[in-house]
Amino acid sequence: MKRLILILGLAIFVTGVIVLLPDEPGAANPNHDCSFCHNIHGAPALALLKEEVVETLCLTCHGPAGISTQKADVHTNDSPTQYPLFTITCTGCHDSHNDRDNWLGGTNIRLVGRRLDSTGLAKVNTTSSGIQNTVFESRGTNEGGPSLHSFADGDEDGNSVYDGICEVCHTLTKHHRNNPSGGHVHQVGRTCTRCHEHVTNFIP
Ligand code: HEC
Ligand code: HEC
Ligand code: HEC
Ligand code: HEC
Ligand code: HEC
Repeated sequence: MKRLILILGLAIFVTGVIVLLPDEPGAANPNHDCSFCHNIHGAPALALLKEEVVETLCLTCHGPAGISTQKADVHTNDSPTQYPLFTITCTGCHDSHNDRDNWLGGTNIRLVGRRLDSTGLAKVNTTSSGIQNTVFESRGTNEGGPSLHSFADGDEDGNSVYDGICEVCHTLTKHHRNNPSGGHVHQVGRTCTRCHEHVTNFIP
């Protein structure tokens, strides 16, 4: 009986959410299974998550001791010498569920860009420029991909919008800000994460 109530409860919860948010969650990224993050029974956190803090959840697998071969960390400047201290957590850049379409009509890869409003398009809540669209369709030329719509294409598509995932937030950096100021030629089109590794907070 207890089990039945739980299952009914979950069904009502999930349908309720799907009715409220028509395109969410739909499906998980093919590398993920719902049960990676949610527990039907006795999950401790909101939305039946296995951990209270989403970052802790992601790092159980993507941290050093995790089962995933793909390791990651947050984006931070631990010892702020040039810029005020900042820390961007996993969901600052990634959607929890799926790759999202972007505002140019393509689809982002690597879960980059979140659903932050009713458009459902891939966006980032930037540090100082509000919610912005982001486009990340290619891992760049070092991986044999196109330079356009990669990490930071320096407005290669000529639409005056700096929407690459490695430019969308930056307003102070020497390279790749989200506006025409500063430099936009640093390693353009290359796979930025070759030197700015995910596991070292994207600091070169
Ligand atoms: C990689 C972890 C992860 C996986 C896998 C995952 N979820 Fe989630 N889910 C989350 C997180 C985190 C939230 C809280 C909202 C957020 O931050 O996106 C959430 C929220 C939800 C919600 C509440 C609505 C919402 O979006 O806030 C529902 C319903 C849901 N997930 C269902 C599912 C289903 C069904 C699957 C499998 C198809 C799934 N999730 C797979 C992490 C995950
Ligand atoms: C239970 C383990 C587990 C958890 C929890 C988990 N992941 Fe994963 N994730 C994986 C595995 C496994 C892969 C596939 C790569 C591999 O085989 O190691 C993967 C792949 C990914 C990828 C690459 C997807 C692609 O399209 O190439 C991203 C991005 C990612 N995870 C982000 C996250 C984020 C963000 C969270 C937290 C919201 C999270 N993961 C939680 C296990 C996990
Ligand atoms: C500043 C934005 C940002 C933050 C914060 C961030 N990621 Fe990522 N993540 C990316 C980008 C961009 C890629 C694609 C990297 C590539 O293709 O080389 C990526 C790729 C990944 C991948 C796929 C493997 C890889 O390295 O390509 C995993 C897994 C992942 N992230 C997990 C996480 C987890 C877990 C966190 C939090 C601890 C996190 N990310 C925080 C931007 C971010
Ligand atoms: C969600 C916001 C956000 C995203 C996305 C983001 N950054 Fe940053 N990054 C910041 C902030 C905030 C700073 C501080 C300077 C500023 O505000 O312009 C910064 C600074 C940096 C710095 C200089 C750090 C230092 O102290 O020397 C590097 C390098 C950097 N980012 C690389 C990257 C790379 C590579 C990517 C793409 C994988 C990326 N960033 C994506 C927010 C972001
Ligand atoms: C070959 C290695 C390499 C590649 C590839 C690379 N970078 Fe860098 N990046 C560096 C080094 C080294 C520095 C520090 C020296 C400097 O500022 O030029 C740096 C500095 C930065 C800074 C911080 C500048 C500051 O304000 O201190 C940002 C932002 C940045 N890179 C973004 C990117 C982006 C975006 C890409 C991909 C388009 C990229 N980098 C590709 C090596 C690289």
